[in-house]
Amino acid sequence: MVCMLHQQNMTVFVIGTDNDQAIFDKLQVINDEQGLNLALSFYMLNKLSDKFVSVFVRNHPTTPIIAIIKNIPMLIKVDNGGIVKSYLNWQSLTKRIVTAGRKSELILQACKPDAQMRVIDGTAGFGHDGLIIASSGANVVMIEQNPMIALLLFCEYQMMNDNPNWQKLLSRIDIHHNDFLNVSFMATLPKVALVYLDPMFPSDSYAAKVNKNMQILHTLASPPSMDDECLFLKIAQNQLMPNGKIIIKRPLSAPYLANQPPVQSFANDAIRFDRY
Ligand SMILES: C[S@@+](CC[C@H](N)C(=O)[O-])C[C@H]1O[C@@H](n2cnc3c(N)ncnc32)[C@H](O)[C@@H]1O
Repeated sequence: MVCMLHQQNMTVFVIGTDNDQAIFDKLQVINDEQGLNLALSFYMLNKLSDKFVSVFVRNHPTTPIIAIIKNIPMLIKVDNGGIVKSYLNWQSLTKRIVTAGRKSELILQACKPDAQMRVIDGTAGFGHDGLIIASSGANVVMIEQNPMIALLLFCEYQMMNDNPNWQKLLSRIDIHHNDFLNVSFMATLPKVALVYLDPMFPSDSYAAKVNKNMQILHTLASPPSMDDECLFLKIAQNQLMPNGKIIIKRPLSAPYLANQPPVQSFANDAIRFDRY
């Protein structure tokens, strides 16, 4: 059963030069095939210098914008007069993926994934945490609610899958554009040994350490309400096989999700993984 997420069309402007039409067409195909319901419009600029991009962004302050820069679709935000560009850049994780182990990755210490283990990453975002979990051999279902982020996830997956070195890892990853809190969608997924969640944090919990990817994600998605925090835990619990576990990523100083104390936490100087 295919369970689609019905949302009002979100308008997204895509900017590029005349060389970038093919990439825009690719985004449009993904949008149609995956039922993302984005209203994508392509604007051809003479060139994509920071100056041209920032003028375009200033002229369209309320519309989310993707810029195609050197063949890569990037999220764009104007901040303090400068341009912040953010993209999934899975290639940059290569070294971490190849060397990932419980000693080097706190997330793997907390999740303890095994080869063939079934995992749901219920808040996929840029897919970075899900990829590190999958590097252990686990099969990871990534769920992303925001259609624009889902578009970039599907696009990055396709681009990286052209590289034979990535195909084995990517064969263990399955991306869905949907809402983790949608009970009928979740009923279509198998029970798993691990549900991993990294919901948006309350924005004041990580001001000092926030990176630019998080800054941009914050403009596109909001932290869950207390009711939704409770639902995240309840739905995650329902999705578990016997002896399964839930791992929640939080900034070090953030309150526990739904104010529920975990059975164990793994922390460094910036983040915490709470186990339930
Ligand atoms: C903090 S980011 C996750 C970052 C991710 N762990 C990574 O490594 O890139 C949270 C993401 O969860 C998504 N999200 C929030 N609520 C969701 C829901 N109910 N279902 C699916 N995705 C959700 C947001 O759109 C956002 O992209």
